Amino acid sequence: MLNDQLRAALQHMPKAELHIHIEGSLEPELIFALAERNGVALNYASVEELRAAYAFTDLQSFLDIYYAGASVLLQEQDFYDMTAAYLARAEADNVRHCEIFFDPQTHTARGVPMRTVIDGIHRACQDSPVSATLILSFLRHLSEEDAFATLEAALPLRDKYIGIGLDSSEVGNPPEKFARVFARCKELGFHLVAHAGEEGPPAYISTALDVLKVERIDHGVRCLEDAALTARLAREQIALTVCPLSNVKLRVFDKMEQHNLLALLDAGLAVTVNSDDPAYFGGYMNDNFIATFEALPLGLSHAQRLARNSFAAAFLPAGQKQKYLDEVDAFFAAL
Ligand code: ADE
Ligand code: ZN
Repeated sequence: MLNDQLRAALQHMPKAELHIHIEGSLEPELIFALAERNGVALNYASVEELRAAYAFTDLQSFLDIYYAGASVLLQEQDFYDMTAAYLARAEADNVRHCEIFFDPQTHTARGVPMRTVIDGIHRACQDSPVSATLILSFLRHLSEEDAFATLEAALPLRDKYIGIGLDSSEVGNPPEKFARVFARCKELGFHLVAHAGEEGPPAYISTALDVLKVERIDHGVRCLEDAALTARLAREQIALTVCPLSNVKLRVFDKMEQHNLLALLDAGLAVTVNSDDPAYFGGYMNDNFIATFEALPLGLSHAQRLARNSFAAAFLPAGQKQKYLDEVDAFFAAL
């Protein structure tokens, strides 16, 4: 059990979320409300039945349900409502800043215009007191050609997102499949990130860095299988956006007690804690912190380090970053 002081610190400390798929914040209640609003048929009779289907065995078993859930998003207001609901939850968890992934191909493939997706999500970010920026993610199970077409369609709206990511089915879709489109995105001046080393091997982390030139690795927990890679990540202080509840739900680790978050910290890595797909994995930011700290021998100094890491790894101007880091330090100094 956590002591009261540590629990309260985890809840109230200022933090940034750097790994959240906005489509993964769609709660079953909102899925049903949007299905009704838009006249979309669902394969589940009730919220309870849908929630009962959230028993995943691996990443693909989750992605199949996650893409089906997103099928209720059709109008700009749908994207707005989903994003506004996430931001309200983030604010309640004392998230000061978040960098939000969205998967345009999931929507454009269903005939939803790119502008509908980006405008709805972006407008909700502008209306929130939480600082929020967007990262457009390519689906890696699709072709690089499809990613190029997606980039082309999104470029007229380029002032509304700051970065490019890579997600979806990892194994068999290595980073190098997207070498050319990431090179183009780098030329265009976007921040670059990629999911790597979630289910895929440590080699995918290396190629995400060396071929795609990403600045952060999403997940990256399998890096510890390669000592040289771990040493490099520590030396270069490449941030890993780790998602503990996700990792347990998708069976990367069988139990939270087996999660390697503390081992990653002890290896000197720039680890952050994030929620990934909170509506599907049993919790938002504070749930992730509390579940992790309950299962592993972590204390206040780890909490402060994780909060600091989250802002240090954010794509924010240096002055803004320092302001948040000072806020974290003042918070812990006052305990
Ligand atoms: N899309 C949404 N969540 C994801 C995850 N954890 N890994 C890969 N793709 C995703
Ligand atoms: Zn993810």
